[in-house]
Amino acid sequence: MLRSHNCGELRKSNVGETVQLCGWVDSYRDHGGVVFIDLRDRYGKTQVVFRPEEGSEVHIEGRHLRSEDVIQVAGEVVPRTEKDVNPKMVTGEIDVRVRELKVFSKSKTPPFEPRTQDLPNEELRLKYRFIDLRREELRKAMILRHKLTKLARDYFDEQGFLDIETPILGKSTPEGARDYLVPSRVHEGEFYALPQSPQIFKQILMVAGYDRYIQIAKCFRDEDLRADRQPEFTQIDLEMSFVEQDDVLSMVEGLLAVWMKELRGVDLQLPLPRLSHAEAMERFGTDKPDLRFGMEIVEITDLVADSDFGVFKNVVGSGGRVRGLNVKGVGDRYSRRVLDNDMKNLVGEHGAKGLAYFKVVGGKLESSIAKFFNEEQQKAIVERMQGEDGDLLLYVADQPDVTSAALAALRNHLGKDLELYDPQEMAIAWILEFPLVTWNEDEQRWDAEHHMFCNPFEEDLEYFVTDPSKIRARSYDLVCNGYEGASGSIRIHDTKIQQQVFDLLKIDPEEAEERFGFLLEALRYGAPPHGGVALGLDRWVMLFSMYDNIRDVIAFPKTQKASDLLSGAPSEVDPKQLRDLHIKLDLPK
Ligand code: AMO
Ligand code: AMP
Repeated sequence: MLRSHNCGELRKSNVGETVQLCGWVDSYRDHGGVVFIDLRDRYGKTQVVFRPEEGSEVHIEGRHLRSEDVIQVAGEVVPRTEKDVNPKMVTGEIDVRVRELKVFSKSKTPPFEPRTQDLPNEELRLKYRFIDLRREELRKAMILRHKLTKLARDYFDEQGFLDIETPILGKSTPEGARDYLVPSRVHEGEFYALPQSPQIFKQILMVAGYDRYIQIAKCFRDEDLRADRQPEFTQIDLEMSFVEQDDVLSMVEGLLAVWMKELRGVDLQLPLPRLSHAEAMERFGTDKPDLRFGMEIVEITDLVADSDFGVFKNVVGSGGRVRGLNVKGVGDRYSRRVLDNDMKNLVGEHGAKGLAYFKVVGGKLESSIAKFFNEEQQKAIVERMQGEDGDLLLYVADQPDVTSAALAALRNHLGKDLELYDPQEMAIAWILEFPLVTWNEDEQRWDAEHHMFCNPFEEDLEYFVTDPSKIRARSYDLVCNGYEGASGSIRIHDTKIQQQVFDLLKIDPEEAEERFGFLLEALRYGAPPHGGVALGLDRWVMLFSMYDNIRDVIAFPKTQKASDLLSGAPSEVDPKQLRDLHIKLDLPK
């Protein structure tokens, strides 16, 4: 070993020992000839000191060290005088007095220093990711990621799960995003698809009898990226046989309890709260509500249908709804400019045509449009909203889905802006009973809400002919602080029901055979009832580390435009490689 200790290890009890440390020069200070260096490695920092009296050569070399040089020092652990003790550093009670120095490698001047408080732009951080990863925050995130993964592996191992790998080069999977394709050289003109998830293979494993499967699986989806989405991400993917929904949910809850206990020291209250999809949409306008705060959506459609306010009346007349939020006690906080511009634009991004607002004063409404509501209507609205003097009431009138999306976004914005929750808190809940299908207006057809292998509720089978929007699936999402942290379902193991679903989705038998034939065939050879779920590992690391950007918890992430700035991927390839693959480019001008 080139070192006797790491840089986070030495304490007062080591005083007097001769030690060897290795690491990076984190900071450099020259105090009248005495050189102080914070030596850094993955474990921490230790101050090492070069004194002129230690021998001129070592001291001279010490004076030439600069940020990010990699060195080895040998010397004695000495106590710091009381006034020099640094209580913020675990090694802050000692120094290492350097007697020998070896420079392993000099560093070019780094584009930014790992200890900087003043972060450069993200592009630079991603290009020099090896320096970025030296920062304490990222190091903590990587360690947390390791712990979450390790705890998950151990937990599922204890529960009898087998870790089985599924192929990366495969066939298109049913998650519905665009595939990443890989051309085959051997099979001219044919392509593999990278898996959007191991969905089909894990179901086949159930048919094969591996009744508890788990995999920390890489998934690939060519979709529009957001702060919580990467094109290449990791799932904790599991599937179980001979189970019902509650069995899968409690298996996942067990993992969350372990995570909370081990990482936060918190006893998670189980079972977790459960909301139906319909209830979540009514109360929060979204299927991934942030449950750290209340401020639920309230409907006033019936109270304003006969008002003189044209906007509301027209919307109600055309089958729309009027819904709103009571923002407690902030009637004077937001200026008209903020309400009419910023907040109106925010709901506008979700399709709302306006934002109506009132202040509650003396049990009645106050605003430029209050005059369109008679006294009785005003009182009824205040009562329905549980309004008190000084409250701000905000409304969107529109078709139901627009009111939901707009108010959900507004609620999230206000929750954050008004600091209605403790950012440390994690509010986790299940959302159940998703609709099996949603209507795709553009393409005039039904789309699977989750994927086409979700089992519908038996009592809803009649709606296949009468009203498919009413069919509920045995599917579930786990939400935390407004993020979707996991998703899964009980699957269809009955080929007749599977056919019904394909018919509804207008997937003709030939297409089904072509796309998923190998799963359908497997299901014909003795399929156990089964179900599973996949947790978005990156998102849970993000939630536990309280980052709001998924890139901060991935060692080598991709940008919003799916490029890797460190390696330069994607990039052009050698023409010969293209010829071997029989590929000719036809690029837009
Ligand atoms: P789903 O597509 O909902 O389900 O994915 C499961 C979970 O994976 C996470 N996730 C993502 N994380 C980061 N970047 C992305 N682009 C991304 N997409 C999804 C989310 C999500 O809840 N095969 C099914 C699971 C099943 O039915 O068992 C599936 O993949 O946290
Ligand atoms: P207008 O009559 O369009 O000037 O709108 C009067 C007020 O009603 C403005 O504050 C608008 O933002 C608001 N408003 C307009 N359309 C809607 C709507 N669909 N839902 C809620 N408020 C609206």
